[in-house]
Amino acid sequence: MLAVEGIHTYYGLSHILFDVSLKVKSGQVVCLLGRNGAGKTTTFRSIMGLNPPARGRIHFNNIDVTGTSPYKLVRQGMGWVPDDRRIFADLTVGENLEIAEHKGTEGEQWDKRKVYDLFPALKEMDSRKGGLLSGGEQKMLAIGRALMTNPQFLLLDEPTEGLAPVLVKTLGERIRKLKEVGLTVLLAEQNVKFTLSLSDYGYIIDNGRICYQGPVEELIDNEEVKHICGI
Ligand SMILES: Nc1ncnc2c1ncn2[C@@H]1O[C@H](COP(=O)(O)OP(=O)(O)O)[C@@H](O)[C@H]1O
Ligand SMILES: [Mg+2]
Repeated sequence: MLAVEGIHTYYGLSHILFDVSLKVKSGQVVCLLGRNGAGKTTTFRSIMGLNPPARGRIHFNNIDVTGTSPYKLVRQGMGWVPDDRRIFADLTVGENLEIAEHKGTEGEQWDKRKVYDLFPALKEMDSRKGGLLSGGEQKMLAIGRALMTNPQFLLLDEPTEGLAPVLVKTLGERIRKLKEVGLTVLLAEQNVKFTLSLSDYGYIIDNGRICYQGPVEELIDNEEVKHICGI
């Protein structure tokens, strides 16, 4: 579904990503693990067309989408949950979801009711302003908002960051459910244990380079992975 092929990405003159390649097959949960500053968000921004790579290509459903703008990618079925959430503080939870609604190209469609079925805590807060939500609630809302665009493919950037352990567990269950309903996910994380328990395949990024990859069975208990990810 997604193929990132040898991308090099810069912020101004700073060379951040070096020859990053990764593949995500339909129906898989694939993770991109690495410590803070490794290049996970930059990889996502490169894919989403916010920081297009200077070299290398990005294919989505066999179409070259390198440098395509984010709103067009959303129409093509890509969903993005940014690390800083960016929900509208002055809109209610319900309004935050409604403004994101976009009919998908195929299959069952997400709507507010289905998002509330997935995250029952949000239903209780339908009329609460987004800015009054806790960090964990905002994360759930950001995921719900991305689902309202009916993506086939979801980029999740550090969903567990700053969440209490009990919420991390719940979030893991929700991501498993998304996989069950057929969503393909690329998950950027620093939380190795959480991530490997959900993923089919993983890439380890360090200093802007993919330094290790493999099926999760091979990544679990791998000393190099533990070392690179700083755990
Ligand atoms: N807007 C920016 N301008 C310049 N450098 C940046 C910018 N954003 C991130 N960086 C640098 O790019 C590197 C990778 O950052 P990032 O992709 O955010 O890592 P991660 O998401 O893995 O924590 C870091 O060295 C960071 O300091
Ligand atoms: Mg990041």
